[in-house]
Amino acid sequence: MSLLKTVGLRASYGQVDVLLGIDIDVSEGEMVVVLGANGAGKTTTMRAVSGTIARSGSVVFDGQEIVSQSAESIVRLGVAHVPQGRGTFSELTVEENLRIGAYIRKDSIESDIARWYETFPRLEERQNQRAGSLSGGEQQMLAIARALMSRPRLLLCDEPSLGLAPLVTQELFEVLKNLNEQDGLSVLLVEQNANLALKVASKVYLLETGQVVASGSAEAIAGDERIRKAYLGG
Ligand SMILES: Nc1ncnc2c1ncn2[C@@H]1O[C@H](COP(=O)(O)OP(=O)(O)OP(=O)(O)O)[C@@H](O)[C@H]1O
Ligand SMILES: [Mg+2]
Repeated sequence: MSLLKTVGLRASYGQVDVLLGIDIDVSEGEMVVVLGANGAGKTTTMRAVSGTIARSGSVVFDGQEIVSQSAESIVRLGVAHVPQGRGTFSELTVEENLRIGAYIRKDSIESDIARWYETFPRLEERQNQRAGSLSGGEQQMLAIARALMSRPRLLLCDEPSLGLAPLVTQELFEVLKNLNEQDGLSVLLVEQNANLALKVASKVYLLETGQVVASGSAEAIAGDERIRKAYLGG
């Protein structure tokens, strides 16, 4: 069943059209990756889905048209966005960041905090430390944990590996994969490291200048010679 479906999704910055009509489909429980060069429109696509920029076309989440909804109501519907770069409040502590991530919830969040501390032990060790003083990898873990505090059904994750050492990246992807496979969390992931992304994703969309130029199963994309040459280093 389709959880997220965009049809003809368009967005622009000022006079410049950046998304020229993006069609993306994420099934319930699926991990989908968006690949593409710098400036292709990957981040803009994530923003257009989460409602953090103006957009047009159609975005259907769980059967409901959300293209005109506010970013906050989209979070309430179950879409959490971990933006590219800083997804944390640097002046607040680790724990304060986690609590803020649950702002839409009225039920008890203590068990969630305990759960994400278990998943990310380094966050527990640093629970009273300012987020801004964490390492890049720890900040990315915090950004993901904070997004998960809203108990999303769909996690939008924009280049979580940016600037991270290979081992930390691997650790992060392991967590995302487990969340997807064991908890059934649906994930739409932007990733520059295509080889890594193809290992965890079931479906791939390739973006070029605001358009989807190729899509298919991770296997099909990995086996496509043109795509391999352009994006996978041969
Ligand atoms: N706030 C902005 N104002 C004006 N133009 C922008 C803005 N943000 C992005 N753009 C432009 O929109 C295009 C798409 O940018 P976007 O950030 O979506 O690309 P991306 O695929 O995420 O790239 P990267 O891999 O570098 O993160 C680029 O040409 C970029 O210069
Ligand atoms: Mg980007």
